[in-house]
Amino acid sequence: MYSLWVSLELASLLIAVISAWIAAGRLGKLRYGGSVERLHRKARAALIALAWMAVPWISALYAIAQLMLQYEPIFWRDRLFLHLPPLLIAGFAVYALTFPAVWRIWRDTATTTGAPLPPELLRRTVHPAVTAPAPSAAAAAALALYHLLVPPVPPKTAEIAIPLLMFGAVLAAILWSRTLRYRRVTAGQPAAFKLPPPGRRLLRKLGVLTVAGAVAYALFSLAAANSRLPARFSMMDGPMDFGGGAPVTHPATGGDALHASHAAHGAHALHAPAPAGSGKPHAGGTDAISVAELTGPRDETPDRRITLTAMKQTVRLDSGRTVEAWTFNGQVPGPEIRVRQGDLVEITLVNRDVEAGVTIHWHGVDVPNAEDGVAGVTQNAVMPGEKHVYRFRADQAGSFWYHTHQQSKEGVQRGLFGPLVVEPEDGAAEDVDLTVMPHIWPGVGTVVNRSETLQRVKVEPGSRVRLRLYNTDDWIIRKYVLVGAPFRVSAIDGTEVNGARELRDTVVEVTSGTRMDLTFTMPDGPVLLSVDRRDLGLLFTPDGKGDAPAMPRRLSRFNPLRYGEPAPTPFGADSRFDRSFTMLLDNKLGFFNGSFDQLYTINGEVFPRTPMFVVREGDLVKVKIINRGSVDHPMHLHGHHALVLSRNREPASGSPWWTDTLDVRPGDVYELAFRANNPGLWMDHCHNLAHAAIGMTMHLMYEGVYTPYEAGADTGNLPE
Ligand code: C2O
Ligand code: CU
Repeated sequence: MYSLWVSLELASLLIAVISAWIAAGRLGKLRYGGSVERLHRKARAALIALAWMAVPWISALYAIAQLMLQYEPIFWRDRLFLHLPPLLIAGFAVYALTFPAVWRIWRDTATTTGAPLPPELLRRTVHPAVTAPAPSAAAAAALALYHLLVPPVPPKTAEIAIPLLMFGAVLAAILWSRTLRYRRVTAGQPAAFKLPPPGRRLLRKLGVLTVAGAVAYALFSLAAANSRLPARFSMMDGPMDFGGGAPVTHPATGGDALHASHAAHGAHALHAPAPAGSGKPHAGGTDAISVAELTGPRDETPDRRITLTAMKQTVRLDSGRTVEAWTFNGQVPGPEIRVRQGDLVEITLVNRDVEAGVTIHWHGVDVPNAEDGVAGVTQNAVMPGEKHVYRFRADQAGSFWYHTHQQSKEGVQRGLFGPLVVEPEDGAAEDVDLTVMPHIWPGVGTVVNRSETLQRVKVEPGSRVRLRLYNTDDWIIRKYVLVGAPFRVSAIDGTEVNGARELRDTVVEVTSGTRMDLTFTMPDGPVLLSVDRRDLGLLFTPDGKGDAPAMPRRLSRFNPLRYGEPAPTPFGADSRFDRSFTMLLDNKLGFFNGSFDQLYTINGEVFPRTPMFVVREGDLVKVKIINRGSVDHPMHLHGHHALVLSRNREPASGSPWWTDTLDVRPGDVYELAFRANNPGLWMDHCHNLAHAAIGMTMHLMYEGVYTPYEAGADTGNLPE
């Protein structure tokens, strides 16, 4: 619903600007009536234009009223103070002043025919009450539209004041020119207006357009240049947010907690190739730790050793079609890594020929920070010919995945990803256990694992089956439907659901980055797992033959907030939190790194001006995520699992819902909690990697930790 009201307001304001502009044009032409009869016709046209103008006006007000009735103030406070007043005042002026005046002109010109315009009537056509309100209304709607497209939330003085001042200047210009014209007419000059020749009108319009264009161009170039990311920067740059907890001293500042960028630059200096023997930065007297030191076990012998080689490869799909991919070990998806819970895993990443560079991020596994695989944050990108070794203990059983975190939008799109499954150490696994990893390939469409069609799988009746569902794509919500047997959602983001009850006729939606495990017992008949459509996915039958069962007519949507049985959690909604943060997601038109785009913002900004949440090890942290924008944002915090406390004020009432990637839909408000128990510098970003690539990213920073790595074009590290 939220998106509906926002889009309605947007469309209404756009039409409001245009229709007020048209009405203003009609009203401005009244003075060229020439004869009483022609003025009568022109007045009628103006009245019609004014009447039409009311439609978008009313629907914009209606949309705002709906938002105010249904949502928290954060969704409409800006509308109340910035959209409504100009709309209401201008609307009032148009319908209380202009409309009746034009109505009277129309009425008073009804009877006479052909007579020349008496001076008294001419005067009435140029009265400011007739000529000023409509163009002012166009400007007012434009102001509201601007504030809708570039919402100043949280409020910033300049973002509110500059458009308001410009609006004020436009209003003054309108009033001044219309009053001047009226004065000239009442003073007796001229006796009648003649429409200027088309050539002059054109010239005047061109002149206005050129000036406006030049000003816009200058402002644009300035803003574009201002938004360029520096060629080298630290991920520790950016304003710090302490979440209402004690400000912590930043590693390299020696206590100057308020100047993050100075701190970061301090850290750079230490790792610039130059002076040997420079000490570590100090944090309140104790030595700060580099993220590079926060490794997994380095000395023990690993239980599993795996090598993943990044290489460009033409990959043949099951259908015989080929895709040009960036792969791990020549496969897409990359090889399925299956380890046992508790295993010490060692993975050697080798980059054969991916010039963009590669890293591996273990999505959903709370690895030590140095193993997190984020270029420019926890390591340098691995360039062709280089390698990097990751080591971590697979403490948590569940469905995870791995993917590059260097130019991740492009890298993941092109195939640098694969499934990672940690099997429970008690060996309580299902008889059949499959990963389902759809991916969109250009020119081919959605491919599930390696197939573009329904894949048949032979399963013995009575077998227990676990399906691990993934989403590796941007922008798309995968809709999984299992038909032919009742099923359970047994795990979400790698955590088992407590007391998962049986479901039927339910669509399980999986957004980018998230995982859901479905389990069922194979019946005698066929079972279909459809991925978005009936002819894509997996078809399980006892003999590997047979047809897919029909799709149910009506589907309900799986709701994790109420699913399963409550169970004890280490903390909850009633806990005392050391810090509470707010993440306000939104969109605005603006610039990122030199180009104009629809930006997706966190607390009103894109990276590097997004906040950095600063915590101290051991803190219990609450995060409120609000999506004011018009699209979904699956938000992913590295290195931690968060417990969902509530959604839209409704407390979580089912199994504890632990998540690492939470889809926040437009209009949604979530409260989450996590324990800051994994020191480091962690990314927190939208897993629509296209959004992350244009700045929808921020960091969680632990006191006393710094990164020696840098990002930016000159460093070769481009985490997004
Ligand atoms: Cu799966 Cu930072 O990402
Ligand atoms: Cu997003």
